[in-house]
Amino acid sequence: MNVGILISGRGSNMVALADAVRGGRVPGARVALVLSDKAGAAGLESARERGIETAVVGRRGRTREEHELEIIERLRARDVELVCLAGYMRLLSPCFVGQFRGRVLNIHPSLLPAFPGLDAQRQAVEHGVKYSGCTVHFVDETLDGGPIVTQRVVPVLDSDTPDALAARILLEEHVAYPEALALVCSGRYEVSGRRVLKKKD
Ligand code: GRF
Repeated sequence: MNVGILISGRGSNMVALADAVRGGRVPGARVALVLSDKAGAAGLESARERGIETAVVGRRGRTREEHELEIIERLRARDVELVCLAGYMRLLSPCFVGQFRGRVLNIHPSLLPAFPGLDAQRQAVEHGVKYSGCTVHFVDETLDGGPIVTQRVVPVLDSDTPDALAARILLEEHVAYPEALALVCSGRYEVSGRRVLKKKD
């Protein structure tokens, strides 16, 4: 399964995915391309260091449709079958989602459906929840709303700032995303309504 990873910044989840693939923890997967909408994304260098092909597709001066069409072309040119969003900071249009239906994953730093959108860790601290975490889900046309593949729980401490909570959630993200990728690449799941169910061996 050729995997394409879309990033906009640091790329630590991309690194977790790439290292899991390289370490044999995602049987059958190959990271074919890491693509960023930002030329300065630090994750690009981390991908290159790992010998992974990278591409930058900037948005400036283009419509969202033009921008996405180029991304789709680049992914298709590398035979990408599964797209992982890893800190990719743009909303994908229904057109993109339609081209890769059921084949786009995202990671979000909260226990969805709580706290979708930006600054999820700050939302969690300010709301006063005692547990938060991360969610890997399929991407559909809704914001952070597609079927959930996996979640990991993190306690919210009285001393937590949004940054402190984000740092602890990030450690769990790096476990959750490779696990979710391995499940999806194995094909041993079915989507029933909103539920992603593991098939028995
Ligand atoms: C992560 O917290 C992820 O959940 C969110 O954006 C952040 C990306 O971090 N979607 P990184 O670029 O993977 O380090």
